[in-house]
Amino acid sequence: MASSTLSNQEGVNPLERRVLWGATLFTLITIGFIAYSVWGLGASVPTCMNNMPVFKHGEIIRHDGKNYEIHFLAKMWKFEPSKVIVPVGSTLDVSVTSKDVQHGFQILGTNINFMALPFVLTTGRVHFTKPGIYHIVCHEYCGAAHQNMNAIIEVSDKVDDISADGLPTLDAGRSLADAKGCLACHSTDGTTGIGPSFKGIWGQTAQLIDGSTRTVDAAFVHNMILHPDANAIKGFDPVMPVVAMSDDEIEQLTEYIKELQ
Ligand code: CUA
Repeated sequence: MASSTLSNQEGVNPLERRVLWGATLFTLITIGFIAYSVWGLGASVPTCMNNMPVFKHGEIIRHDGKNYEIHFLAKMWKFEPSKVIVPVGSTLDVSVTSKDVQHGFQILGTNINFMALPFVLTTGRVHFTKPGIYHIVCHEYCGAAHQNMNAIIEVSDKVDDISADGLPTLDAGRSLADAKGCLACHSTDGTTGIGPSFKGIWGQTAQLIDGSTRTVDAAFVHNMILHPDANAIKGFDPVMPVVAMSDDEIEQLTEYIKELQ
């Protein structure tokens, strides 16, 4: 009697049959949605690469035609570059990493929605067919000024090539060095002044007054700016003042000195 309630003449309970059909249909619809998002909507799954030698600055790399590669660096609390202008029809290979903590990276109105993580490179592709302003936001709480962390991609039908704001450049490094008074004592052409020239000093071994030696690298420049007395270089008067500079500014100056090697 028990077996006759569980089975019809074909051996399958009608309810069970309906559940099986329902599950099959649900699976097919799900696969259909995935196929539609890939081929119909052009969705791409972000690629995430761990333990990569990640970039330290934002950058724009031009490939052929309107194909560009953009490196976005997320840091408290901005993106580098902060504004990118691209011609309509551009395809951007976007890669994102973080200089400090975990950030979010979403280009509103597109399929790009990443996490920006230190030591991790996340990449995806976006194609712009319509002019307009596309906002980039950090959607991961990352500290005091998280809500101010944003950038813009302007898709324009009035430009032929990509351009960007907020990228560190040699010019910016030079004007910073000038504004902070560095260039009064440090030349950029190799001539010795009150202090050693910035030209060619990067990577050199510096002899300090206390007899020790240091390699001129990012850590040394940083240290030098914060504690010039403790790092006085042999052969020069120990007259370098403490110059108030933010970590970002020190980094920019470091890049400038590095460029002058
Ligand atoms: Cu970066 Cu929130």
